[in-house]
Amino acid sequence: MRFDIVTLFPAIFDGYLTQSLLEKAIAKGLVEIHRHNLRDWAADTPHRKVDDRPFGGGPGMLLQVDVTVPCVEDIERMAQTPARKILLTPQGKRFDQRMAEDLATSDRVMLLCGRYEGFDQRVVDLLEPEEVSVGDFVLNGGEVAAMTIIDGVVRLLPGVLGDENSHVDDSFSRGNRLLEFPQYTRPRDFRGHGVPDVLLGGNHEAIAAWRAEQSRIRTKQRRSDLFDEEE
Ligand code: 6GU
Repeated sequence: MRFDIVTLFPAIFDGYLTQSLLEKAIAKGLVEIHRHNLRDWAADTPHRKVDDRPFGGGPGMLLQVDVTVPCVEDIERMAQTPARKILLTPQGKRFDQRMAEDLATSDRVMLLCGRYEGFDQRVVDLLEPEEVSVGDFVLNGGEVAAMTIIDGVVRLLPGVLGDENSHVDDSFSRGNRLLEFPQYTRPRDFRGHGVPDVLLGGNHEAIAAWRAEQSRIRTKQRRSDLFDEEE
């Protein structure tokens, strides 16, 4: 799977890309991540301007359509496969595990990271990207959101995680739309806090039943909205 990231701050991704799981996935050839600096598509003037003030007034600066659209078109041509284009914006559709599972079936995803007040509307009108948000809060730019999406998607690609089934039971995943049950490891006692007896008893049916019940209790207490979701 190939990711193309369009950003004014490619260095933000340095640490993330050298993180062990991702570095291994890249080394194994399971994923390619290409960063592109939007400024490289700016007019060849000393300031290499990529943004301008909004018509009609108001605060902040907008990323220009005449820089962004040619940039995306050039990147599109860098590989044979057409890219699924995602524009990161708090106005977008909320990213969730279902979207991660769907994106993991794509061969190529392009992520457009906004800064300042965002992009000129014509970027959306012309390129028709999917607009995606990672939650109801405001970030300083799309870069952290792009990393969130890459992180959620890459771990679903076959061969990336050690155990092929290890994500099926994750909270929100295909096999389990509920929250995960609590888990314990040694020591059996820490400052008077023990481990539920059922987990020490070796009765696998009882353990499975306890875990299913704990998942339901947690979900009801913390995220009762998850019970309303239809498949
Ligand atoms: Cl995708 N971008 C920005 N700037 N803020 C956000 C977001 C994206 N998702 C939630 N907040």
